[in-house]
Amino acid sequence: MIALGCDHGGYELKLEVIKYLEQNNIPYKDFGCDSTDAVDYPVYAKKVANAVANKECEKGILICGTGIGISIAANKVKGIRCALCSDCFSAEATRQHNDANILAMGARVLGGGLAVKIVDTFLNTEFSNDERHIRRINLIED
Ligand code: RB5
Repeated sequence: MIALGCDHGGYELKLEVIKYLEQNNIPYKDFGCDSTDAVDYPVYAKKVANAVANKECEKGILICGTGIGISIAANKVKGIRCALCSDCFSAEATRQHNDANILAMGARVLGGGLAVKIVDTFLNTEFSNDERHIRRINLIED
């Protein structure tokens, strides 16, 4: 189950991500927001981050205007490794190296086509499980 969240700046791009998830039969839970009316991104960051941290959802996707605020807020939740990505290389590397459990994107930064490719890369790349990467992730949590 993928947890989805956005603010008003990310709402339209979230709809494109939902279309991709539905076309690929990937189950998701949408934690809002539900329109382009202005809201506060930390509210949605925390809903998604809590769902991933408590294992209700295995991964999350967060979208705001830049992706910055919503990723900063998500990373305040223990156990969350939220990576802001604007390219497929970073999306692949953050899964392989950081075992990132939430992808953040900026809707005012990315077009829908690239954003969906980034989502596809993020969801289809496994953590390397290399000892050095496990050690470094554990150092983040300390
Ligand atoms: C909202 O205007 C904007 O500040 C928000 O979407 C995000 O970019 C914050 O980091």
